[in-house]
Amino acid sequence: MPKLQDTEKIGGSGHKVFNLKFQILNFEIWARLSGKSQLNHLICPATESSLLAAGYEVEQMKKQISVTVNGVTHQNEIEPRLLLVQYIRDVLNLTGTHVGCETSLCGACTVMVDGQAVKSCTMLAAQADGSTVTTIEGLAQGGELHPVQNGFWEHHGLQCGYCTPGMIMAAAQILQRNPDPTDEEIRHGLEGNLCRCTGYQNIVQAVQCAAKKMKSKSVAR
Ligand code: FES
Ligand code: FES
Repeated sequence: MPKLQDTEKIGGSGHKVFNLKFQILNFEIWARLSGKSQLNHLICPATESSLLAAGYEVEQMKKQISVTVNGVTHQNEIEPRLLLVQYIRDVLNLTGTHVGCETSLCGACTVMVDGQAVKSCTMLAAQADGSTVTTIEGLAQGGELHPVQNGFWEHHGLQCGYCTPGMIMAAAQILQRNPDPTDEEIRHGLEGNLCRCTGYQNIVQAVQCAAKKMKSKSVAR
């Protein structure tokens, strides 16, 4: 096992050397107490790379999950720290769900988890184990766009389209809870979704259009 002084060579600035020493010191204390030279519990990525750089072995802890996404059940072994949005995009290759802020502010990553709109950057993939997830790719049914997708299409509810998948998922949730919302209620419901392009008016019109389409569909049934 490398000795603590070996870390002197690794850090760039004095600050980094201090941090690295601190992290390695923690690890050495843990290793001495537990009699192990291999770390196999969850650590932050920065600590992990420091330990790897210092020549320690870091064994990743994995978790088996089973998640049904857009009607297909996926079973994967993942790192416990993997975010749901990373699982959707990087493991399942469903890149319609976007990543904006990664801090739960912009709503670009919104998906449905067990019928609830969720910002998937705020949830771990491990927490979705056993759940049913719908992403923007799963909203259209039988080759037909969802009424909210149609509304955005008809009312030009987008420009660059970056916020659009999250906006559509959040709007679908609004109409699920309230089939006849006022403009005010739509604006309130979309507060957690940011768009830097449209000025929101067309988005509100798109959701109103979707509400009408959904109402006329249910009347026709
Ligand atoms: Fe999740 Fe912005 S990327 S809220
Ligand atoms: Fe560009 Fe909303 S359409 S961010």
